[in-house]
Formats: sequence, C-alpha cells, structure tokens
Amino acid sequence: MASFSSRVSALLLVMSLVVSFSMAVSAGNFYQDIDITWGDGRANILNNGDLLTLSLDNTSGCGFQSKNQFLYGQFDMQIKLVPGNSAGTVTTYYLSSEGSTHDEIDMEFLGNLSGDPYILHTNVYSQGKGNREQQFYLWFDPTADFHTYSILWNPQSIIFSVDGIPIREFKNAESIGVPYPKYQPMRVYSSLWNADDWATRGGLVKTDWTQAPFIASYRNFSANACIWYNGASSCSSNSGGKSWLSQQLDYSTQGQMKWVQNNFMIYNYCTDTKRFPQGVPQECNMS
Ligand SMILES: *[C@@H]1O[C@H](CO)[C@@H](O)[C@H](O)[C@H]1NC(C)=O
Ligand SMILES: *[C@@H]1O[C@H](CO)[C@@H](O)[C@H](O)[C@H]1NC(C)=O
Ligand SMILES: *[C@@H]1O[C@H](CO)[C@@H](O)[C@H](O)[C@H]1NC(C)=O
Repeated sequence: MASFSSRVSALLLVMSLVVSFSMAVSAGNFYQDIDITWGDGRANILNNGDLLTLSLDNTSGCGFQSKNQFLYGQFDMQIKLVPGNSAGTVTTYYLSSEGSTHDEIDMEFLGNLSGDPYILHTNVYSQGKGNREQQFYLWFDPTADFHTYSILWNPQSIIFSVDGIPIREFKNAESIGVPYPKYQPMRVYSSLWNADDWATRGGLVKTDWTQAPFIASYRNFSANACIWYNGASSCSSNSGGKSWLSQQLDYSTQGQMKWVQNNFMIYNYCTDTKRFPQGVPQECNMS
C-alpha cells in the first residue's frame, strides 16, 4: 500500500505533468491519452499504444474516452471504419460534456451493405439542445484505409473536417441568442455499437451477425487543445502557439467546404422546412 506522502508526491507529479503537457500536441499514444470505458475486452490497444481497435458482436460493442477534459482544441483521429457489410453498425467519434444540459459535438459513421455508402452524421448540442443534424457521403471508401477526422472547437466556430477538408462549420451565434458550447469542458469519446433500429436506410437494413465481429481501427490521435484541470484551463496561463484557438475558414477553405456540401451533403436541418414549419433554427440564417 502506498503511504500518504507517496500518494501526495504522485499527485504532485501528475499535476506537474499536466502543467508541462498542457500545451502538448499529444502525438498519439493511446495508453497515455485514453481509457477504455466499456465493452468487456472488446476494445484493445495494440502496437505499443499506436493502434486501437473496437469490436462489436451480438453481445456488445465497446468504447473509450480521453483521460483529459478540454475546453477548446483541435482534435484529430485517424479511423478505418468497419469493412464489408457494416449495415446496422455505428462508429462514433465525438466530444461531450456531462449532465443533462450538456454540450456535444458529434461525428457518427453509419454503416452499410458492402459497396453502399457510409453516412457521416454530424450534430452539435449546446446546453442540452441538439437537432442540428447534417449528413454527408464521403468521397472515398472509408473502410479501405485510415482517414483523418477532425473537430476544431474554438470560441468563434466549430469546424468538422475530413482529411483536412472542412465539411461543416457551426458558428458562434450567441449574438443572436443561440447558446454556444463554451462553458462546459468536454472529453473525446468513441464507440462502436449496434443501431440497426435506425442507422442503415432508417432501420430497414439490419445487422448481419454472421459477419461479426465488426472491427473499426484507430491511430494517431492528436489533441492540440486547452486541457481543463481543477476548474482552470491550461490555455489561460500560456498564450503562445495556439493558432487553432483563433482559426477560421478563409476564402480557399470555404470553397472546399462548399464543394463538399454541394456534392456530398445528403441532409441539412437548415433546409428542412417540413421539420421546422415555424422557420429553421436561427443560426441557419447566420452565413
Ligand atoms: C452470438 O454469436 C455467437 C457466435 O457466432 C453464437 O454462438 C451465439 O449463439 C450468438 N448469440 C445470440 C444471442 O445470438
Ligand atoms: C446505404 O446505401 C443506400 C443505398 O445506396 C443509401 O440510400 C443509404 O443512404 C446508405 N447509407 C446508410 C447509412 O443508410
Ligand atoms: C499523425 O498526425 C499528425 C498531426 O495530426 C500528422 O502531422 C502526421 O502526419 C500523422 N501521422 C500519420 C502516420 O499519418
């Protein structure tokens, strides 16, 4: 059993590590960065922390979360999605705070029959309210190789990107009364689970359990972020080198986003006037 004083010095060590790494681009070691939180051995860290796999079978899926909480950051993950017949499965990569009025920034990958396109489903919750879905097909086969999925979250905007190409921007619209995620620290979460009641063609195509286990792979997680620790942000004490904290889309990246939205967006709540007969949500009129 550790003595009290050795526990105190361990705590001090942890605190000094937190301080010294507070600005770190954690260059991806899953042992250091994440905790496997559920799934009874179905999530595994391999290759000295470089690779992580999630597995789903007819009994359970699994998932993990970041050890740290963050308030703003650029979060990149390379993911290779479940290959073959992945219909009914959902692979998630998202940020979330805790509690009933939580904030959340979602990327969910809805599987499909072999050769049919995955859907990348995105959403933003602020203070417990979501209903801001946008969905996309991808311009490549996301099961053939790893691709980088990124969430940039700063005081001005939330920008979702795929291989560095922005696909969606959710701007801070507080000035017109729309709550923006900025008070609640969030963790990074990821999971693989069965959602065949809704995921593929609205639930028409069920999971084919003869194909199990379904496996998604992860590598090269990077959180270039403000770590939230003990009620304070690591960014408040150190202002250098954080271009992502003020980063916004420029003319060229706006053009890329437009290209994606024109060619690959398949659902946008902002144009769903049937769903919002009284008028689409206010932030939709921002840009
Ligand atoms: C789950 O899959 C295993 C292995 O294929 C099989 O033996 C078992 O019967 C299945 N269980 C259920 C509840 O379908
Ligand atoms: C699956 O493929 C069908 C047919 O191409 C398509 O309508 C659907 O959007 C695809 N994705 C999902 C997740 O259902
Ligand atoms: C890992 O991610 C970093 C930063 O996101 C990137 O610069 C690097 O090229 C990536 N490594 C691989 C092997 O893709």
